[in-house]
Amino acid sequence: MKTAVTIGLMICGLLAMTMLEGSVAEQCPFGHATGGGRKLQQVQGPTPAPMTAPAPALVQTPALSPLPNSHLTGPDVQGKPPLYFGFYDTTCPSFPAIVKRQVASAIAADSLTPAQLLRLFFHDCFVMGCDASLLLKSTVSNLAEQDHPNNFTVGKYSVIDAIKAELETACPGVVSCADILGAAAAEAVEQAGGPHIDLAYGRRDGLDSFAPAAKTNLPGSTLQVEGLIENFANVGLNLTDVIVLSGGHTIGQARCSTFADRFSPTAPNPFPDTAFGSAVESYCAEGNTVGLDRRMSLDANTTTAFDNGYFQSLVNGRGILTSDDVLFKDPQTKATVTLFANDQKAFFDAFQESFRKMGRINVLTGTEGQIRTQCSIRRPIDLTLNPNANTDFAQSQDQVCVPASCPTPPTCKGTQQ
Ligand SMILES: *[C@@H]1O[C@H](CO)[C@@H](O)[C@H](O)[C@H]1NC(C)=O
Ligand SMILES: *[C@@H]1O[C@H](CO)[C@@H](O)[C@H](O)[C@H]1NC(C)=O
Ligand SMILES: *[C@@H]1O[C@H](CO)[C@@H](O)[C@H](O)[C@H]1NC(C)=O
Repeated sequence: MKTAVTIGLMICGLLAMTMLEGSVAEQCPFGHATGGGRKLQQVQGPTPAPMTAPAPALVQTPALSPLPNSHLTGPDVQGKPPLYFGFYDTTCPSFPAIVKRQVASAIAADSLTPAQLLRLFFHDCFVMGCDASLLLKSTVSNLAEQDHPNNFTVGKYSVIDAIKAELETACPGVVSCADILGAAAAEAVEQAGGPHIDLAYGRRDGLDSFAPAAKTNLPGSTLQVEGLIENFANVGLNLTDVIVLSGGHTIGQARCSTFADRFSPTAPNPFPDTAFGSAVESYCAEGNTVGLDRRMSLDANTTTAFDNGYFQSLVNGRGILTSDDVLFKDPQTKATVTLFANDQKAFFDAFQESFRKMGRINVLTGTEGQIRTQCSIRRPIDLTLNPNANTDFAQSQDQVCVPASCPTPPTCKGTQQ
């Protein structure tokens, strides 16, 4: 059973790494399973608790209480604690400044950063909700969202990690990775010239990440308007949101392969602006001859500026993806595209609204989920609170281990030898 042993050891390594980051109270939350069940018993330090001691609430952040000057975000999260504007005002007042500085330094190093930060948030929210599931790394037994093959053009995880690292020094264990994704995206939009977006916070980090979900939930670049509507409706967004959030393409790029469907050897140049279409076609064809899938800016005029240039491009027959081009062709969406092409403020106002709405997709709040210490690694779960949660980190009870920082020596029960 060499494989089982190896898996057990790797899981131990992961847990031990995670543990080192915790505060004293949270350093030793992971016990070993007893009997045949999944229940965990607490490993307390320095005095071990009696076996019968009830497990204290683990990896919980400070209890949520409505903060002064905060207000509800809307009906979407009714039935559970809502998100709040100013959620971190007292618990982590440096949060906005840290995000602002890290995003600025990332943009200074790479002007395409805003598009990628926006994409991270979008991708996270559309796939299993805004719960930072996108940031979790694959484990030995589970392929995570970020490793699904359609992860191309997803990047800048390092910016999120840098923000998280600084926050863990400033206010350890307080700010969720899910909220960092939202804050970084909003900040990126603003620093690229877009609107200021006040975002409500209080999202918590999810426990799971599954690659197949990335395939089914992201809107494809070859979709017509009906397909886009259906895809967005799956996460509670409407036709207006389709158009508005597509406006994020104003700072985006796409690989040539994602709009290869627009060119076929037999069909005529599909771009209303045929000169532009020919240029795009040869740019991509040239790129592919050296095995390189080139990228094309979706708003060629002002690639790095968050403005209404994307909508002007659509009106001018320069929509790149099928899913862009159809927005000006379909009567359901044409009027709004035209409005945004002529009125940047209308687009900005709508963008703030749709962005916030996207940021409320299937959020975890209150005591759901957890606050990760490192965004790429789920913290050990208290199985007494989440009996079915620990399916990929601990395949069976005998692979659950106790970290080095706990009073008992680091060990994996069972298969280790
Ligand atoms: C994309 O997924 C592949 C596995 O399918 C992985 O090797 C690669 O590192 C991922 N890329 C990014 C940017 O996450
Ligand atoms: C979409 O939802 C917004 C509210 O978020 C609303 O203002 C708008 O009228 C809706 N649009 C459509 C086409 O239903
Ligand atoms: C690009 O920008 C110029 C100057 O602002 C404008 O006149 C032109 O229409 C734009 N082209 C497209 C395709 O949007």
